[in-house]
Amino acid sequence: MTRTPVNVTVTGAAGQIGYALLFRIASGHLLGADVPVKLRLLEIPQGLKAAEGTAMELDDCAFPLLRGIEITDDPNVAFDGANVALLVGARPRTKGMERGDLLEANGGIFKPQGKAINDNAADDIKVLVVGNPANTNALIAQAAAPDVPAERFTAMTRLDHNRAISQLAAKTGAAVSDIKRLTIWGNHSATQYPDIFHAEIAGKNAAEVVNDQQWLADEFIPTVAKRGAAIIEARGASSAASAANAAIDHVHTWVNGTAEGDWTSMGIPSDGSYGVPEGLISSFPVICKDGGYEIVQGLDVNEFSRTRIDASVAELAEERDAVRGLGLL
Ligand code: NAD
Ligand code: LMR
Repeated sequence: MTRTPVNVTVTGAAGQIGYALLFRIASGHLLGADVPVKLRLLEIPQGLKAAEGTAMELDDCAFPLLRGIEITDDPNVAFDGANVALLVGARPRTKGMERGDLLEANGGIFKPQGKAINDNAADDIKVLVVGNPANTNALIAQAAAPDVPAERFTAMTRLDHNRAISQLAAKTGAAVSDIKRLTIWGNHSATQYPDIFHAEIAGKNAAEVVNDQQWLADEFIPTVAKRGAAIIEARGASSAASAANAAIDHVHTWVNGTAEGDWTSMGIPSDGSYGVPEGLISSFPVICKDGGYEIVQGLDVNEFSRTRIDASVAELAEERDAVRGLGLL
């Protein structure tokens, strides 16, 4: 049976994450080895030539699943009929820029893109925001798309989730594949909270296996939360291949489901669960099934976790208030 191609839009396509991402989408890692895709690449005018170069390379791979590439600087064209949108392009913080300036500059990107998604995307659109500050950029885009169900706008904390699994595997000597039910709570920022209290290592409680509160508080949590800055320090550029890999994981899991007995972490609009104010785009433990997701309910949140979740959620609320003050919501 010939399947209709899925339209995948990638913004910031000429950037470093874009370069690491597009070849994996075209080779079937985003949606599945039997799902043909059409790519739409959105760039600003200065990025169009480089995006054309990447498109030439995509052609040269002769990917059997790639059914077309369109390059544009017009969001209305880029999101026309889009089924999946990966919002990667964002304005990085530059020297002398205050937090408010960064939020405002990104508002100038994500508000029009949200509107273009609202007006042009397919009914089943799924949006992943990667560009930082990812949670608040997702909130801005979602607010500009009142006709799209809010839960279709998500922000990426899968990189943090993967980083946490890798650190936990290194500490315990376990295989990555033995680690399940890890959770990232809150913001994709240094306040995020990687939670191992409900995680399992080969079926045993991870916190009990680790049994080292000092390592948890002083090494694990800061290492995961500040890993992005450590990569920038080491590479001289922010994470790209691992970020692209996490974006692939996020969408693949959303579309194809979480494994039995496991969950993942996604930044999603809060429904008020776990005391996170409704509407904030915060990371939660989620189970994905049939192309949708649900927050894992009923987890016991201890005092150690509560304090850290609350701190990250407070930061999200501050960011929301700042962009509201700028008229972006
Ligand atoms: P980059 O600077 O290499 O590329 C960004 C690209 O976006 C550029 O080509 C630029 O021209 C383009 N762009 C800018 N404004 C645009 C617009 N309005 N429309 C379309 N394209 C636009 O950056 P990168 O390394 O690819 O990172 C992209 C973003 O992802 C950054 O904000 C980075 O901080 C973020 N990031 C997030 C995570 C995460 O876990 N959520 C991880 C790593 C990086
Ligand atoms: C990361 O977590 O690697 C990035 O979000 C860091 C950054 O500021 O781009």
